[in-house]
Amino acid sequence: MDKKDKYHQLINMANSVIIAKDPLVSKMANLSSLIQEYFNHLWVGFYFVDKNKNELYLGPFQGALACTKIQYGKGVCGTAWAKNVILNVEDVHDFDGHIACSTHSNSEIVVPILDKDHEVIAVLDIDSINFNQFENIDEENLQYLCTLLM
Ligand code: SME
Repeated sequence: MDKKDKYHQLINMANSVIIAKDPLVSKMANLSSLIQEYFNHLWVGFYFVDKNKNELYLGPFQGALACTKIQYGKGVCGTAWAKNVILNVEDVHDFDGHIACSTHSNSEIVVPILDKDHEVIAVLDIDSINFNQFENIDEENLQYLCTLLM
């Protein structure tokens, strides 16, 4: 199956299993599981924004142990939050300030999750063992999948 077909199936599955009124954390848990089922990435998970502490904290994920806190503007996740943009990092070793939770990670994508006021409340973070794993098709589909959480 190519990426396009995988996302097509994944979105159909997500539409049927992600129940709007469920708690956000439960929806994230199932979405991380679904993304993993289709793509088998190195790590897929979420970080929540803690506005009071000005940091991200670890949410539901699939993969190995990860750092639990990331400061605003730090690492790929904290930068995507601060800039409110998708960061698609082809080679994490070239990203200034990248936080290496795994030595096996070579590329990474971080998608901000916005509330109805367009404020970032969490981020989706995916790590890959492949360099240059993520393309426009990933950005578009992952962004769409994140809208199903809200
Ligand atoms: N690499 C991330 C840290 C989180 S782990 O990848 C799970 C970053 O630079 O923000």
